[in-house]
This record gives sequence, structure tokens and C-alpha cells, in this order.
Amino acid sequence: MSSISYQVDADGIATLTIDQPGKSMNVISPEFTEELSEAIERAAADSSVKGIVITSGKSSFVAGADLIGMSGMIEHARNAPAAEALKVSSRLTEVLRRLETIGKPVATAINGTALGGGFEIALATHYRVAADDESIKIGQPEVQVGLLPGAGGTQRIPRLIGIMASAPLLLEGKHLSPAQAKSSGLIHDVVPAAELLAKAKAWLLSPQAKSVQPWDERGFKVPGGAGGMHPAAAQLFMAANAMTRDKTLGNYPAAQAILSAVYEGTQVPIDLGLKIEAKYFLSLLRGPVAPAMIRTLFVNKGRADKLVRRPQGVPKAKFKKIGMLGAGMMGAAIAYVAASNGIEVVLLDRDVEAAERGKGYARKLVEKAVSRRKMAEVEGEALLARIHATADYADLADVDYIIEAVFEDRAIKADVTKKVEAVIRPDVIFGSNTSTIPITSLAEASERPEKFIGIHFFSPAEKMPLVEIIRGNKTSDEALAVTLDFVQAIRKTPIVVNDGRGFFTSRFCMNYIGEGEIMLTEGIPAALVENAGKLAGMPVGPLALADETAIDLGWKIHKAAEIDLGDAYKPSAAIGVMEAMYVKNGRAGRKNGKGFYEYPEGGQKTLWPGLAELFPVKPESEWPSIDDLKKRLLFAQALDAVRTMEEGVLTDPEDGDVGGIFGLGFAPYTGGPLSMLDGIGIANVVAECERLAANYGERFSPPKLLRDMAAEGRTFYPAAKAAA
Ligand code: NAI
Repeated sequence: MSSISYQVDADGIATLTIDQPGKSMNVISPEFTEELSEAIERAAADSSVKGIVITSGKSSFVAGADLIGMSGMIEHARNAPAAEALKVSSRLTEVLRRLETIGKPVATAINGTALGGGFEIALATHYRVAADDESIKIGQPEVQVGLLPGAGGTQRIPRLIGIMASAPLLLEGKHLSPAQAKSSGLIHDVVPAAELLAKAKAWLLSPQAKSVQPWDERGFKVPGGAGGMHPAAAQLFMAANAMTRDKTLGNYPAAQAILSAVYEGTQVPIDLGLKIEAKYFLSLLRGPVAPAMIRTLFVNKGRADKLVRRPQGVPKAKFKKIGMLGAGMMGAAIAYVAASNGIEVVLLDRDVEAAERGKGYARKLVEKAVSRRKMAEVEGEALLARIHATADYADLADVDYIIEAVFEDRAIKADVTKKVEAVIRPDVIFGSNTSTIPITSLAEASERPEKFIGIHFFSPAEKMPLVEIIRGNKTSDEALAVTLDFVQAIRKTPIVVNDGRGFFTSRFCMNYIGEGEIMLTEGIPAALVENAGKLAGMPVGPLALADETAIDLGWKIHKAAEIDLGDAYKPSAAIGVMEAMYVKNGRAGRKNGKGFYEYPEGGQKTLWPGLAELFPVKPESEWPSIDDLKKRLLFAQALDAVRTMEEGVLTDPEDGDVGGIFGLGFAPYTGGPLSMLDGIGIANVVAECERLAANYGERFSPPKLLRDMAAEGRTFYPAAKAAA
């Protein structure tokens, strides 16, 4: 079935309506590009057609490339000879260039969101009018997945609105409302939705109608200045170059490629500019970053959101009301999240005052949202009315799900579990938000361990998208299915892992912190350790993260492991650092204002000067290279992800990659820890691990799984998936 309908009216205006069958949004794919080409040729050849208007039959216009279906294109780009690859990857560019030069005026009626390739279609038409609707987004978000707008966006946008104004659109992927797009000069008009098509047709029939783009008109001045860039523009590029290097720390080649495409392409005629853009676009498709980012940020996340791990055969669960035990930092935020998704919450704490304090946190979030006009006042009131603060267990009698977030203390959790099970319906699933205690052992306090599961949120829960679901030994398929349904109901992204100490995410991030702490014991300055973390692409340095998660927590986990594991426990060299900091110097982290950093009231945190005394710095000549420091910080985490796969905690690399990025901010350009290893090549990783182990310690020696994979030529993602 065709996805573009073709209709010519009595005035000779051909309307091409894009409406891809069976899809909620129109997306760009190679098949669609060919259909578009056919429709354009048909209109070009039809002598009754005087003008063309392109619009969409869906509520959005065209949402951009079909990233999920892009694997074929990426694989082709990577494997085909360069000339052949370029031909395929620049096909839409060719079709759109034909569109703007067919000799008939073309208009776009932007009835809904037009992003990426969708907006690039509009840019290749002579007139753009959008519906007057603030929710419509217009822009080029490609940079966010490691790509550049590869169908003319980097050339037409600066030619329309200038190089300077293009920067936030192209380099940050910022999107605009129709009104903003009009005032910046990207579109010509904004009209009420009902008048959209009529307006486009009126333009096509008016004397102003043109079939030539500004850049194809005689006398057009390229914004980069032909035959040498204007000094002001050159200066801008120098600054932008430095900025993108600084902001993205060299890990994101897309920003540099966009700058180069704009710099080189805006000094020459458009046809050459489009060729330059196509060359950079292909280089990004062939590089490691875009495929890895697309795979994890879209393909894998999309699969997680669609609940690929949900056991079959369990009816979809509905949640009218849930019980939230503990109204502290986590409980209060989770209550807010549930209530903001229309679910009633019984928020229970030890006394009503504590429960009310938790509700107060939700109230603050509501007030902030209302003051920023992100929420209507009535909406905020309704949200708060859904949260019932209490200390009475009887109020839990009719809830559909339980989340427990009381103190991280086995005995308290066991006590609460018993009290709750005495009042809730027997079918209700009980999820614990523990961050460290194995679920199987917590379930021992339950009369129905098959209904007991881990539902691990991240702080601040109102912002963090990930929820780690942990199956205990006795957790049933039903408990998993219902919990996945709940995570979907509150619009978070789930990963599913098996039980183990620290599950997947908690132990994963401990490795980052631990490696940073070990570096201190090697005489490497704390500031260098922190910079290495940021240069590696992590959101914060390992010592700053230690302060956030609390140094005493690390110490307590160590003590618990000593007791639970006995002789089998192999403490990390980082323990000595926690002992020196917390046990000997009372430095627990941000929570007591004293950690690796100091937290002056109202001021910026600064590294604690006392560190140099506790961990004397060696002469610079003895420090490892910055590349080794970066590699150690990323490998310490990725190798632990491999170990969790060996141990069966992770059953699929997708969970590790989605969990690493969305839960902990693991360097997004890598596509996640396991994608990163695939990208480096497993055999290369093994060799690198051996070198790191010889230089820095046994913890880097390659896990057996990696050695086996290298020997058998296997990767974490099967070849086809590896490419996208
Ligand atoms: P918190 O100390 O801020 O809150 C705990 C709340 O539980 C307090 O309001 C306390 O009054 C209440 N409580 C204690 N005993 C109770 C009882 N017997 N009955 C009813 N309420 C009781 O702690 P936070 O940070 O909210 O942590 C709660 C749980 O969430 C812990 O298991 C923790 O490991 C886990 N968690 C914490 C994260 C964090 O970043 N803080 C992240 C993910 C999980």
C-alpha cells in the first residue's frame, strides 16, 4: 500500500498526503524515499499540475528517520564500498534536490511535528506554512543520536537564517514551535490548523509563488562568504569549534562533523554543499558512535518500553491505587510520579507527620511545575489530592500494588512486610525499592515470596527514567508481568535482572567510584581523577559520585559483604579509602557536608584540601597517562557488566546498556558498557585488559566470558544488531 496519496484539484494543485499505513507517525525509510521520488516525478510530468503541496494525514507531519528500522542503512554504509555507500546514504538528498528544482512551486503544510528528515523535506520546498499549535515541534535533533541532518539540513538552514542562528538548531538539536520557527525565518507563515491547506494552495496560486529557492537565484550570497570567509564568521567558527570540543569533550564526532559541513558547505554553491554534507553524514554512519547511540537510546530503549521482557499469558494489570511505604527521599518522589500519572497513592510512614512531610515534597514539585507553567493549577491540586498521607495500615486495604522504601535495614523491612501483608488483598504484588539487599533474602519475611519482587528506582525519582526490576529466586512470572505493567503505567523505562548483591546497577556504579578511589591510593591527584571521569564522558567524577551516594554507604555495604560472604569475600583496594575518609575522619559525603569535597553554604563545592595528606600525590612523571585513567574508569564498570552476565544477573546485553545509560549516565556515546566492548572489538578488549591487569591490578584481567567470546569471534550483539 502506498503511503503517499496523490490528488489534483480543479485549480491544478497536486496534494501529496503522507500517511504511512499501520504507523502512528510518518517516518523516513528507504522505501518511503522512493515513494516520495515517484510522487514528485508524477507531479512533474503531469501537465495539469501547476503547483504541489505536501502534507500529512496523521497528527504529526513526519517525525524523522525510522531509527529503529535504520539498521539496514547503517549496515550497508559500513560494509559497501564508499561510492556505493554514499549513493544509498545520500538518496534522500538527491530526491529533495530534485523536488526544489522541478520547475513547479512546492509548498509544505506543516500540520504537526516535523523533525529531522521530516523538516528537511519542508526545507526543500519553496513555501512553508505551519498550523498555529504550540505543541508542534520543528527541528533537527540528529546530533542527539550522533548524526547530522543528512538531507540538506546543514546547508539549507544556514542559507535561510544565517550561520549564527543555525548553531543551536544543528549543534544542540534544539526544536522550535511554529511561532518561533516563523520569527527565526525558517518558515513563512503560521495559520489556524483549519486554514492550513487553503493557505498553502492560495500561495501556490498567487503571484508570489516561485519555483526557485533563494540559493538558486542569481545574486544569492552564501552565508560563509564565497572565496574566503568573512572575518566575523571565521571567528564564530573558531569559538564554536572550541565550544563543541569543550562541551562534548571530543567524544561526540557529530558536533565536529556538523561544524565542518556548515563551514565548508556555506562557502560554495548548494550542490557542492550538499555533497560535502553527504560525505560527513556517511563518515558518521561508518563511525562507532552513531550506530551505538541509535541502538541503545532508541532500539533497545524502545524495546524495553514495549516490555519485551514481559512474560506472556498474564492479563494486563491496572492500577487505580498503590501503597507507598516510607515517605522519605525515595518514597515521596515515587508517590509524586505515580500521582502525576493518575494513580492514587496511600503514602505511609511511621507517623502522620512524617507521611505529611513526604507529601510536602510532592507539593514543592507541583508548585515548581505550576510556577514554570508546566502544569495547570487545577492539575496540580488534583495530583496532590491523589496522595493520601497516613500512618494507618488499614488504609492499604484496597491498593493494587505495594512499593516499599523504608530504611535500608533488613529488620525494619521485614517488620513492615508482615504488617502490610496482614491487610492487603492476597493477589497484590509487593515491590521493594532496596538498593543493596538481595531480594531473595528480603522475601523470606513474606508469606508469599512468589509475589515479592525488587523495583529499584533512581534518585531523583521524579527525573530519572530508569527502573531496575529484580527477580528473586521465588518471584513468579505474574509478579514480573504486573511490575512491568506498573513501570509502564508511570512511564518509566524498565530493565529486568536477576537477584545478586547490588543487582546490576548498584554494583556497576560502585566500580566507577572504587576505581577513582584506588587512583587516590596510587598518588594521582584528586582533581585529575575527577577530570578523567568527565573526559571519559561520565556525568560527574567518581569522587563527586561517591559523595552523592554517601561514603558511609559504601563502607556499610563492605561490612555487610564481609559478614555475608565470609572467606569468599575479596575486598577491593578502595575499602582503605572509605575507611580513611569515613571511619577515621567522619567524612560521609554530601549528606554531612564533608566528603571528598567540601560544601560551603551557598558556595561551590571544592575538593577537600586534606586529601593530599591522606593520599600523598606522587611526582607527575609517575602518573599514568590520561588515556589510561579514562580507560580504567570505563573498563572497571564494563568488565563488571560482563561479570554480571557470567553470573546470570544480566540475561541480555540490552538491559546492561539501557541500565548503564538511563540509570547511571554511563558515557552515552559508547551506547552503554557492552556496546562499548563490541565497538572496541572483543579480541582487542581482551588484549587491553591483559595490559591493564599487568600495570594496574588483577581486577582488570579479562573475565572468562570475554576470552571465550574472543576465541569464538562472538559479540554481545549479533552482527546485524551490532550494526544498529
Ligand atoms: P529515607 O531515610 O529518606 O526514607 C526512609 C523513610 O522510611 C523515612 O521517612 C522513615 O521515616 C520511613 N520509615 C522508617 N521505618 C519505617 C517503618 N517502620 N514504617 C514506615 N515508615 C518507616 O531513605 P531513602 O533514601 O528514601 O531510601 C529508602 C529506600 O530506598 C532504602 O531501601 C534505600 O536503599 C532505597 N533507595 C535509595 C536510593 C537513594 O538514592 N537514596 C536510591 C534507590 C533506592
